[in-house]
Order: sequence, then structure tokens, then C-alpha cells
Amino acid sequence: MNLKTLTSTAIKKLLDKAERYPLTTINYPSRGQTAVQEIYQTKYGKFFLKRNSKQNHIDCQIDIDSGTLAEREFWAFQLAEHLGLDVPRLWLLDKMTTVQVWLDYPDAKQYSSTQERVFLNTQNVFECGLFDWLTGQIDRHNANYLYDYVSQKIILIDSAHCFLKHSASLPHYLEFFEGAYTQLLSLKLNTKLSQKIKSIKPKQLDQLIVLRNEDEKKALHFRMDSIKKTHTISDLINLYRRKS
Ligand SMILES: Nc1ncnc2c1ncn2[C@@H]1O[C@H](COP(=O)(O)OP(=O)(O)OP(=O)(O)O)[C@@H](O)[C@H]1O
Ligand SMILES: [Mg+2]
Repeated sequence: MNLKTLTSTAIKKLLDKAERYPLTTINYPSRGQTAVQEIYQTKYGKFFLKRNSKQNHIDCQIDIDSGTLAEREFWAFQLAEHLGLDVPRLWLLDKMTTVQVWLDYPDAKQYSSTQERVFLNTQNVFECGLFDWLTGQIDRHNANYLYDYVSQKIILIDSAHCFLKHSASLPHYLEFFEGAYTQLLSLKLNTKLSQKIKSIKPKQLDQLIVLRNEDEKKALHFRMDSIKKTHTISDLINLYRRKS
């Protein structure tokens, strides 16, 4: 089954017939922000449903009319898909609800607290960092990325805190990379994804991410303009630190 072909209506039907697992909050390092979190076992594997409440938006100071947390997570998924960044497939069921494929990887916080340290892949970190910068991500702590310990790549999840009017904040993995891989900070990097992200045209950006708020649009275009001269992870960190 190619999950890409499943519509959100088909996903709804699938979950109606599926087996629900106990709450994730017992097993995962959830900070308990999202009102509803459910895991379903289906014939196509496990799916993770998140439903936000109005209170969640008040707590996070997010204006529902500009874009809910669920919509923002979906926009981030759409951009990741366009760029070819490997993230769990995600559907928007309604304004407050997303469903995504549950991947069998621990998040980096779980892995480093229970197994061993995380090893990072330079190109993968560069690509994720460019994506987090462009999307204006402000919540990339180490339980918001999974760790594929076989390929030693990270997989971004829970990208809901994005496309706001403020700039992105330094992701946890970049802070870690800076301390652990000093000799790689100035390495020039040029990947298929970095080329693609730098070459998005303003008009195409507006078509890809249809923001309703003018200040958020302006902030997105500013981040897009500032990304062009980023060739190393050091350049990337400087972007977050507003030093470039
Ligand atoms: N697609 C996924 N595959 C595997 N694990 C996931 C996936 N999505 C989330 N998780 C796990 O579930 C945890 C909680 O999910 P998520 O970060 O999306 O929710 P949240 O909005 O942060 O919830 P809360 O604010 O309540 O912590 C993650 O930290 C991670 O451990
Ligand atoms: Mg989270």
C-alpha cells in the first residue's frame, strides 16, 4: 500500500476500524501540551493522532485564525515533502487534528537517556537545520526529533511551532553538533536538498505555504532571503544567532 495515495477521509475511515493503544503520554516524554494523543494499530501499521484544544493555542500564544498548531504541522510536512526531507507522512483531518505515521524509532531524548550518545550525520544536520530555519521552528528540543540509530540520521517530528512572525530558535541538534563536531563546522556543504531549498522563488514559496497572516508571510520571506549564503553548519548557526 502506498500511503501517499491515502486521503484524509480514507485515514478517518481506517482509524474508525482500528485498534487504539493506551495513551502515549505514559511512555513518551510528552510535556502534556496536546489535548488528545492516540496511537492506532491498523493494517498499514501504527498511526499517531494529535488533537489540539483552544487552550493549547492560548498557552502557546498562537492565534487560531492565523493558523492552528495542526495546520502549521501540516504546512511543515507539505514543505518537507516538496523538498524531499524524510519525515513521517502526515494528514490534516480537521483544523485541530493531525494523523501521522508512527515510526519505530526512539526520539533523541529517549535514546540518549536510555541507550547511548547520539552520533550525528553532517549532511543530515545541515538539511534539517536549513528546514528548521526556513520554517521558523521554535520548539526543536531533543524529544522533537527521532533518532535512526542505524543510519545515524535524525528525523524531525512535531514541527507545529513554525511559520510564526518571530525567527527560528537554535535547534537542539545544532547546539550539540557545535560542541561535538568542531572540526566539521566549517566544512562546505552542498546537497540536493540544500540546493532545492535555496532556489525556491518567492512566488513558489507563497503557493507552497499559504499563510493567512501578513507578518508571518514577511517573516518567512526574510528567512528565505537570508538562507542563500549558508554554506556551512557554522553559517547556519550564525543565522540562528542573527550574526549573518
Ligand atoms: N511519528 C512519530 N513516530 C514515532 N514517535 C513519535 C512520532 N511522533 C511523536 N512521537 C513520539 O511522541 C512524543 C510526543 O509527540 P509530539 O512531540 O508530536 O507531541 P507534543 O505535541 O510534543 O505533545 P506534548 O506537547 O504533549 O509533549 C515525541 O516526543 C516522540 O517521542
Ligand atoms: Mg513534542
